[in-house]
This record gives sequence, structure tokens and C-alpha cells, in this order.
Amino acid sequence: MPARVLNGIVIRDQIYAELTGEISALASAGIRPGLAAVLVGDDPASKVYVKNKIAACEKLGLASIQITPPATITTSELLAIIEDLNRRDDVDGILVQLPLPPQVDAKKILEAVDPAKDVDGFHPLNVGHLVAGRPTLVPCTPAGVMELLRRSSIPLEGAHAVVVGRSDIVGKPMALLLMHANATVTVCHSKTRDLPATVRRADLIVAAMGRPAMITPDYVRPGATVIDVGINRITDGGQAEKFFANFPERLAEFRAKGTALVGDVHPEIANVAGALTPVPGGVGPLTIAMLIRNAVKAARLRRGQRTPAAAAVQR
Ligand code: GUN
Repeated sequence: MPARVLNGIVIRDQIYAELTGEISALASAGIRPGLAAVLVGDDPASKVYVKNKIAACEKLGLASIQITPPATITTSELLAIIEDLNRRDDVDGILVQLPLPPQVDAKKILEAVDPAKDVDGFHPLNVGHLVAGRPTLVPCTPAGVMELLRRSSIPLEGAHAVVVGRSDIVGKPMALLLMHANATVTVCHSKTRDLPATVRRADLIVAAMGRPAMITPDYVRPGATVIDVGINRITDGGQAEKFFANFPERLAEFRAKGTALVGDVHPEIANVAGALTPVPGGVGPLTIAMLIRNAVKAARLRRGQRTPAAAAVQR
């Protein structure tokens, strides 16, 4: 039986509908959340991500500003930009698109962002809150994966979750969120011994290592849920023929465009997995929805308002 497809676009639209109500309630109180995106240099993928983030702000009625310093910027020049954004009252959320050029001390930049405006959840204070089980602003991609799992009724309690990839942005926070949801979590990475056998024990696989189509069917226990966080642009015809051998429509699309997006999961796992997220159209749309949610949350928190979720817990 082919895997159930977990459609991120449908779930994103549910979340947007909920956020729209919250945003108009804020508007009635004279509050319009504002997001500042800092895009250093001209990495084509980063440009697309930031463009999509700004477009989401516009669609939902948030204010947004984009700051685009050149790739030659120094750490201290970028720090000055962040400090200015920290001071601005019309800016509720600050995101610094990664990766930064090699001469910039990325950790120092992320530490300079006001934790109350840290919509990416990358500041050590917010990382600490997450570790302590009192999450505030949570990194967007893992938060989006949790929403997708919850809204798709994928059981997590007692499940064995295997996270492949240990990045600060996805793998580490993902493992913490799954642990807090009472899953048994294994984190794998490039040095893990016998990776296929380890991943094959999973009820839930989260693939987040940035290697196109690396998770092949032999990694997947039949019926497992597979969440594909990877977004890899391929241009090599040989690779496309290998990945899309049994997907004639995708191969035709590659031939027409000369490029395609593939996840970290091989398309063939559709015949083994119980449920999976497609690429594109799976986790990606949720990352942006969580960014907007974090910006709205930051806007409320900065004004001393509780979020609806926190208010519900109190009740
Ligand atoms: N680069 C890759 N993913 C992300 C993300 O979630 N946030 C930022 N700021 N940069 C990224």
C-alpha cells in the first residue's frame, strides 16, 4: 500500500487561518507585529527563503523589513545592525538568515539578538528554555514538524523516533521536542555505526542531514512515519534518473527545467513507509508558518500579553 502523504500545505493553511484571528485581535488593540529579516550576501537559496518569509508576512498582515548587507560585511558591522533592530520598537522579531559568510562570527551574531525578538529560537537563552522543558520561542523547522505530527495524529508517546542529523537548527531541537512528547529518541549523524540498521528500528524517522535522497528503502521499517526535512536542489541528470526512475512525471519535470528539489529521503520509500512528507510541500511550508507564529508570539510577549496557548493552560 502506498504511504499516506502528510500534506504540509493543507496544515499550514489551517495554522494561517488560526493566526489570522489572533493577528486581527492584535490589530484591534493597535498592534501590528513586525518582522525584520537580515539577508547577508546573495546566496540564491537564502534569497528564496527570505523572499518566501517576507511574502508570508505580507499575506498575513505583519509588517516586515528586509536588510541586505553585502557578503563582505564584518562581524562588528553586522552586530551594529542587530543592535539597531533590538532597539526598534516597531520590530518584534529578528531573523538572521543562515548561513553567514565565513568571516562573520555567527554564534556572536545569534547571541546578540534580543532573546525576546529571537523568532528563530537560536539564542542560547531560548535554547536553554527548550532544554529545560519550558519552551518560549522554538526553532521553526522542528516546531513545524511537531505541528505536522500532532495535526496528523501520529502517535509519539512511547514511539521510537530516530533523528538523522544533529544540527543546532534542526536535529538537536527536534530531539528535545520529541523527548518532551515522550518519544524514545535516538540521534544519528555521519559517524553513527551501521546507520541503516539503527534507522530501521524507528517508528518515526526525521531526516535532516542535507544529503539528497540518502534515506533509501533499506533504512525504513515497513509502516514507519518518515519526515523529510531536506531541501536539496539537484541539477545532475544522472542523479535525477536514479532518484526518479519510477516517477516519470518528476523525471519529465526535471528534464523540462534542468533542476528539481529532492529531500534527504529517496522517493522510493513511498512503497515502504506508512506515512511520509513530500518535498516540496511537506515540512517547508510549516517552517514559515512557525516563523509567523513566533513573530506574533514575540509581539504579544513583549507587550506582556499571554499567548492563547498559555492562557488555555492557566484556565
Ligand atoms: N537557514 C536554514 N534554515 C534556517 C532557519 O530556520 N532560519 C534561519 N534564520 N536561517 C536558516
